[in-house]
Amino acid sequence: MSEKRRIVVTSALPYANGDIHLGHLVEYIQTDFWVRFQKMRGNACVYICADDTHGTPIMIRAAKEGIAPEDLIARSHATHLKDFTDFEVAFDNYYSTNSPENKALSEQFFAAMEKSGGVTKRTTPQLYCEHCKMFLPDRFVKGVCPKCGAEGQYGDSCDKCGSTYAAEELGNPVCTTCGGTPVVKDSEHLYFELEPQHDYLQQWIPGHTTSDVSNKLLEWFSEPLRGWCISRAAPYFGFQIPGYPDKYFYVWVDAPIGYLASLQNWCDKNGQKFADWWQNPKAERYHFIGKDIIRFHCLFWPGMLHTAGFEQPNKIFVHGFLTVNGEKMSKSKGTFVNARTYLDHLPASALRYYYACKLGGTTDDMDLNLQDFVQRVNGDMVGKITNLASRGAQMLNKNLEGRMGALDAEGQELVALARSRAEVIAQHYEDRRFSQVPVEVAKIADAANEYFDRREPWKTVKLPDGAETTRTTLTTILNVFRILAIYLKPILPAYAEKVAALFGEASYGWDDIAKTVESTTIGKYEYLATRIDAKQVEAMIEKAKVKPADSGEVAHESRASKNKDKAAKPAEAAAAVAAPALKPEVAFADFEKLDLRIGKVVACEIVPKSAKLLKFTLDCGVLGTRTIFSGIRGAYPDPAALIGKEVLFIANLAPRKMSVGVSEGMILYAGEPGKSGGVLAPLAEAGAGTPAT
Ligand code: MSP
Ligand code: ZN
Repeated sequence: MSEKRRIVVTSALPYANGDIHLGHLVEYIQTDFWVRFQKMRGNACVYICADDTHGTPIMIRAAKEGIAPEDLIARSHATHLKDFTDFEVAFDNYYSTNSPENKALSEQFFAAMEKSGGVTKRTTPQLYCEHCKMFLPDRFVKGVCPKCGAEGQYGDSCDKCGSTYAAEELGNPVCTTCGGTPVVKDSEHLYFELEPQHDYLQQWIPGHTTSDVSNKLLEWFSEPLRGWCISRAAPYFGFQIPGYPDKYFYVWVDAPIGYLASLQNWCDKNGQKFADWWQNPKAERYHFIGKDIIRFHCLFWPGMLHTAGFEQPNKIFVHGFLTVNGEKMSKSKGTFVNARTYLDHLPASALRYYYACKLGGTTDDMDLNLQDFVQRVNGDMVGKITNLASRGAQMLNKNLEGRMGALDAEGQELVALARSRAEVIAQHYEDRRFSQVPVEVAKIADAANEYFDRREPWKTVKLPDGAETTRTTLTTILNVFRILAIYLKPILPAYAEKVAALFGEASYGWDDIAKTVESTTIGKYEYLATRIDAKQVEAMIEKAKVKPADSGEVAHESRASKNKDKAAKPAEAAAAVAAPALKPEVAFADFEKLDLRIGKVVACEIVPKSAKLLKFTLDCGVLGTRTIFSGIRGAYPDPAALIGKEVLFIANLAPRKMSVGVSEGMILYAGEPGKSGGVLAPLAEAGAGTPAT
């Protein structure tokens, strides 16, 4: 037997500050198809991923929620992993970039980069907000486009005219966090120079990705390559740069190193050696990424790996972006659907099947047409393919004691036809032409359905001596179906598992295609797939609709840039935790409307599945007992300690229905803006309360 391959596969590390959505799943689901296929072929393949946890948006998001960044990333890790698991995406290791392995490796890379002479210092002017005490990243400043004069444009590019510029060039710049006017201030940063690797990278790139991607990248090589800014000013949530106490690695430095750190962590947990996997010239390494992060993976990352003496990836597989009904995903239209929202309405297998139908292994964008989605799932996956099993197995169980017979000549021919496509289908998987797999499967299913209709088992079963003919027909149908289920296993793993159970077999490998199942008693038929209803899709879209006012999300620095493929910009700004803005002034007449009271905490408990909520039961004297939910768990991790304390609360706030219950008021709480600490409004100084007792 030929030596089996040893393969490391990664998907890009999702940012910890956002939910997994159907766009992300284009990547994780296709990587999962490929990994599962490799495993079925008997190759040693590990699927490595992690959360990408560092950077400004994560810091700001945590500050807004009043929790520590570590708490935010722990919560995201759990929800991301649950989402992936429920979509049958099976990582061998799902780790975090905020790990000791990653810190050590990042320091090792940096030391090698410094030693090579590739790290330089430059001082550049940047916008700085005196109020927020932070250098402003491009997406944290808005102003007038220097080219066309359009207002309200971000610091990197203009929505109206499409031009790109440096943030300092904006007219009337405004800090998006506090509304203040930033100033231009010099800041010193570390750069990783790529020009010394000009020739190396120019010859490396073409063999390691598709030609459309490499041609685009190679356009930059007609000029000297620009250095890449790899530092960010403190405070920053990330790894401090050794020797530079007030500087941190830019998140995109330690993110790809996170692939190696997660692999290292997997090796340590599984008695494996890193040297046998990444540092093994005979092993293979592949990154699956979206087209927006090409520059980081095909330029900076190989430059870093080369400098630090690590093996390069064999290939970088780039996919396009998801559109829904032909348009960019939109929160207001309800087409920006989170993984969980989808799962609340529809089965994971349906999306996996549909994505397989649409993925051709190119960088073209991929459309999820919702009408087509329902039709393909119902027409092909359920109607054409699954019906073979549901009709065949149920008829066999009902009328023929569930016992299969032997194939006759015609049956053998049909099964041989099904089997004959094995290597063609395997090559489609290998080349990531996933869309061809359902096409091949449907062709075989058509032949099987034609056979079924021609043999009319529902009629023969009623004939006095028709039992054996019927058994032969159903044995053929079930054998063909079994082969189709094996072909589809990388796409529909849970489905294939149920099929194996139906035949009393172990989990399928690719070699099981060669086997014929005869004279076996099958098990009970479990539903493999059911039709989906357009109504389920409508309900999902309705649920995903976000009104314009609450669609505010903290964009990530890299995702923020519209023109992702431009060369490294010299002055991408650093940032710190921002102090939230003061809200507009309130008239005294409005303030007077509030009825402030004092209540005594009689019970206080953590709300399950919520990172920040505490459930208070307050004794409000003449007002009776009230339940109030308050998002201050970050500051009071031990709720029991609050029992017996007196707190100030707004008693006449309209009751608010929350997912966890109804909140009958609001407890007042004071904290330093943007910090996760804070205290319940101290009564001695509050002075405004009317004791309720
Ligand atoms: N954290 C970085 C990756 C670091 S890898 C060392 C990042 N994270 S992300 O959460 O924004 O995206 C993760 C992956 O999902 C990327 O490969 C990205 O291209 C992909 N997608 C995110 N939105 C997508 C669509 N709408 N459509 C298809 N893929 C998309 O980038
Ligand atoms: Zn500010």
